[in-house]
Amino acid sequence: MALRILHVASEIQPLVKTGGLADALGRLPAAQLELGHQVAVLVPGYPAILDRVSPVDELMTLDSADDGPVRVLRGQLPGTAVTLLVLDAPQRFDRPGNPYVDAEGRDWQDNHRRFALLGRAAAEIARRAWPADVVHAHDWHAGLTPAYLRAAGDFCATCFTIHNLSFQGIFDAELYPDTGLPGDFYTLEGLEFHGRWSFMKSALNFSDAITTVSPTYAREILTTEHGMGLDGLLRHRATRLHGILNGVDYATWDPATDPLLASPYSIETLDRKRQNKRALQRASELDEDDDILLVGVVSRLTEQKGLDFALGALADLLIKGRLQLVLLGSGDPVLESAFNALANRHPDRCAVRLGYDEALAHRIMGGADVILVPSRFEPCGLTQLYGLRYGTLPVVRHTGGLADTVDRYTVSRASAATGFVFDTPNTTAVRRALGSALKLYADSAAWQQIMRNAMRRDFGWDKAAVAYSELYANLVASRSAA
Ligand code: ADP
Ligand code: GLC
Repeated sequence: MALRILHVASEIQPLVKTGGLADALGRLPAAQLELGHQVAVLVPGYPAILDRVSPVDELMTLDSADDGPVRVLRGQLPGTAVTLLVLDAPQRFDRPGNPYVDAEGRDWQDNHRRFALLGRAAAEIARRAWPADVVHAHDWHAGLTPAYLRAAGDFCATCFTIHNLSFQGIFDAELYPDTGLPGDFYTLEGLEFHGRWSFMKSALNFSDAITTVSPTYAREILTTEHGMGLDGLLRHRATRLHGILNGVDYATWDPATDPLLASPYSIETLDRKRQNKRALQRASELDEDDDILLVGVVSRLTEQKGLDFALGALADLLIKGRLQLVLLGSGDPVLESAFNALANRHPDRCAVRLGYDEALAHRIMGGADVILVPSRFEPCGLTQLYGLRYGTLPVVRHTGGLADTVDRYTVSRASAATGFVFDTPNTTAVRRALGSALKLYADSAAWQQIMRNAMRRDFGWDKAAVAYSELYANLVASRSAA
């Protein structure tokens, strides 16, 4: 069944990205287009978007006493045939830098208004300018969309995807009237949350279907440990909750065609990977040594990612001269300086690059032997998927999407293994997993076998696109039956 699908999100590759959310929005709509759906994506008009997208027309304007002039411009997502709808509201979105925080790292004071406007615009667009069968909102920024649709009469199906439950968009009660939403939504069954109100909770209550980005994370968020205070509600709505694994953009992440690599390689030319390792060592001013295990990390440096407890294991193995480390990331200043200190202590074995660098991320995937992702929780995770395709074996914690995508190496399960998996989020467990990688690395034939297993795995977006199609079709069918 061909459907009209309107996605709503705050990030999209290649225009605005702070994490994997952008990667997902960059590719899922295009994969849906290939299945014959009509697809549009609504995003806020950040300067980074307006500077790079040339609108073909103005789809509509919105009444907006409080938000200044608001127009919806229609263009195309670069590199695709996907319709991009840009919410041009300069008073709310024409600000430099990060989409959510000011130059000092503080949340913008009017974030509730900025993202309420996004949800309200989505509902208006679906109602009168780009009629949709399904409106699919992503993460808390788009979380009020289903509530605005409910207030407007619930005329189409709604789907909400949790990419990360730890960011919920919670605001004080006195700000709620700014949304213009009905007062009777401010209840326990609506969006009220412990005396405040929550975009995330609103989405979970008002959408027809809830998805998250891996089957394991979909189960984990039903528990107190991973439910972030919303597990009770999620259990209540469990029949509406589905885990659909994200895909990888193999047009961008393929070692055989990656223009950013010193020496592209494939499963037939594994030996060429060594040249990428050399190039990465050289560029990072590390000893140029083929035989030492080179560990890569590309990550936000936050509590979620577990690099705090991984640090001790890495430090220990660096002191012993057992491995090299190239880390690319940014975030928590305490972690940033701890990793910097590690690099200062071991300049020939450890390189730390703080910041965001797309090209270096590719070179790390191409040049490292393993990619470390020790997350406390991980809804899906993309870097382990890149690692698999690049034969850069993932060392991951058994959680969320990491558990669903990496097959644990053990001596008896070597023929099916694709990486190294540990269970407990602590230093000892990381140390052991890296120890197991080091041991296998000494046997290059065995190591190459695991590389081949990993490179053969397919996590393309086509599968996810089909799964979403089936879900939407059910939503649309049950609405017309009702
Ligand atoms: P999350 O969305 O939780 O950050 P994911 O693994 O889903 O985690 O996605 C992270 C994305 O951001 C990947 O595409 C990864 O390559 C990229 N990324 C993270 N940190 C950096 C960085 N410092 N420089 C370049 N790319 C980065
Ligand atoms: C989130 C999650 C990550 C996931 C990404 C895309 O940021 O932390 O695990 O891969 O969204 O869905």
